[in-house]
Amino acid sequence: MYKRATLPRSNESVRGLMIMTSPKTSASFVTISVSLWLVLLQLCSGQLRQQLGTTPNIKHIVVGRCYTYITLVNPGLWCDCEEVWRQFEEAVVHQSSCNVTVEDYHHMFNAMPQIWPCDRFLFWSKTRALMHSYAAVFRHFWTLEDTLVGYLFNDLIWCGQDDDSGNDTCEFKTGFDFSSCPDWSACRNHPVYSLWRQASQNFAEMACGNITVLLNGSIVNAFHKRSMFGSVELDSLNPHRVNYVNIKVVTNLDGPHIESCSQGSILDLIQILQSRGFQWTCTDSDQTLMILQCIQDPKRSSCQTYADGNREGLTSS
Ligand SMILES: *[C@@H]1O[C@H](CO)[C@@H](O)[C@H](O)[C@H]1NC(C)=O
Ligand SMILES: *[C@@H]1O[C@H](CO)[C@@H](O)[C@H](O)[C@H]1NC(C)=O
Ligand SMILES: *[C@@H]1O[C@H](CO)[C@@H](O)[C@H](O)[C@H]1NC(C)=O
Repeated sequence: MYKRATLPRSNESVRGLMIMTSPKTSASFVTISVSLWLVLLQLCSGQLRQQLGTTPNIKHIVVGRCYTYITLVNPGLWCDCEEVWRQFEEAVVHQSSCNVTVEDYHHMFNAMPQIWPCDRFLFWSKTRALMHSYAAVFRHFWTLEDTLVGYLFNDLIWCGQDDDSGNDTCEFKTGFDFSSCPDWSACRNHPVYSLWRQASQNFAEMACGNITVLLNGSIVNAFHKRSMFGSVELDSLNPHRVNYVNIKVVTNLDGPHIESCSQGSILDLIQILQSRGFQWTCTDSDQTLMILQCIQDPKRSSCQTYADGNREGLTSS
C-alpha cells in the first residue's frame, strides 16, 4: 500500500495520513488531506514536526463502530467489543509512543473474529480513490477496510503517553496522548503503522480464490517493493490458497502512461508471482475502471467515446 524508491519514508507518511484521515468514499478529501499534510509539514518543519494527537473520543468511536459492524454490517459475527478495546488499550497506552510493535497487538487481533470470503479480495497500491469507487460499484469486493479491524480503525490516529512524560494538561489521565503523536516516519514501531502492518499481513494471508490487484500505471514503480503491498501483502499471499492474481493496471485519464503489463515494475511483480508459483493475469485497459474515472470527470477527451455512444443510444431510441 505505501510507496516510492527515492523517498520511501516520506511517502509512507503520506499514505499513513491517507489511511488515517481520509473518508472511505471521497476522492477529493484524499487530495485535501495530502495537501493539508504537506502544508502542515511546511508549517511545522523546523518547529514542532509533530502531527495531530490521538483522535478525540477514540474509545467511543472504536467501540461504537465495533457494535455497528457486528449488528448492521455483518450481523451474526460475534465479537466482544469491550474486550477488543481493552486489548487495544493494553497494547498502546503507557508505552513510549514510538514503541508499539506488531506483537503488542496480537492479543487484540486474537480477540477479533474474521470472515474471509473467497474470490473477493481487492488489493491496491497508489489507487486509493479509484479503489473506493470500484469497491463501491462492485459490492462483492472485499478490501482491508471491510474487515473488522479495518472498519474499526479507519481514519483514526492514536499514540500512547509515556508515564513519565509529565504532560498533565489533561484533567484525567487516559494513557493516550491527545495533544500530539509522533510523525509516522519518525519511528520504527509507530503504533498506527504497526496495527495496519499486522492487519495487512492477516488480510493477505487469508486471501483465497481469485484476487485482484489495482496498480497505478501513471507513476514510476507502480509496483514498489517498499510499499505495503510489495513488502507485506505480496509476501503473505499463499499460492496454495490463491487461484489467480488478476492484476489491473490503471492510468489517469489524461496519462501519463508510464507503466503497463509489459513495461516497468509490473514486470518485476509478474516475475515474483511466477517464481512463487502463482497463476496470474494482467489487464492494461479495463473498461470499467476507465468508465468509473469518466463518471467523475466526463469532460476529458478520452471519455468522449463513451459520451458519444450514449448520445447516439438516446437519440436513436
Ligand atoms: C520498547 O518496548 C520493549 C518491550 O515492550 C521494552 O523492552 C523496551 O525497553 C522499550 N524501549 C523503549 C525505548 O521504550
Ligand atoms: C496515480 O497516482 C497519482 C499520484 O499519486 C494520483 O494523483 C492518481 O490519482 C493515481 N491514479 C489513479 C488512477 O489512481
Ligand atoms: C479466476 O480468474 C481466472 C483468470 O482471470 C478466470 O478465468 C476465472 O473464471 C476466475 N474464476 C472466478 C471464480 O472468478
